[in-house]
Amino acid sequence: MTKRKMKGDQTMMERVAIYPGSFDPLTYGHIDIVERALEIFDRVILAIAHDAEKKPLFTVQERVEMANLIFKDTPKVIVDSFKGLLVNYVEKTNARVILRGLRATSDFEYEFHMASMNRSLSVHLDTLFMMTSKDYFFVSSRTIKEVAKLGGTVEGLV
Ligand code: PNS
Repeated sequence: MTKRKMKGDQTMMERVAIYPGSFDPLTYGHIDIVERALEIFDRVILAIAHDAEKKPLFTVQERVEMANLIFKDTPKVIVDSFKGLLVNYVEKTNARVILRGLRATSDFEYEFHMASMNRSLSVHLDTLFMMTSKDYFFVSSRTIKEVAKLGGTVEGLV
């Protein structure tokens, strides 16, 4: 939570979630998670990771630009990018919650390891998981890129 000054010198605690990922590219599944998270949090920071090892299709700058365009009318969403450890980035923002989407049980092991590692690196942080909506549980950035590359349609997914 971060403190936000209100009128008349009142201070309100703002609930902030960090939604980290590669977002290469951002899919409707990601957008759905952000929209639902805004029902719980006052602000969602979409944090795009610099990760040279993953050989992304889009540069971080392109992904930031696309996300800014998508959320241009949603001031409660802030688009940012980060380098290095996620926990270090989160600590700097004063948020305490890392948000991740879960599509299927196959995501669980990877997410469980990541959440556990992040928790061991910083005991102040917790990871909150949201189940992907049924319309998007089969959507991933990886399959979107593959289908698009092979000439299939990805309309309505990305
Ligand atoms: O969308 P992705 O690729 O599943 O997102 C993974 C991401 C970017 C959240 C994860 O790789 C990450 O946090 N990278 C930053 C480096 C880091 O903190 N690694 C330790 C996490 S166990």
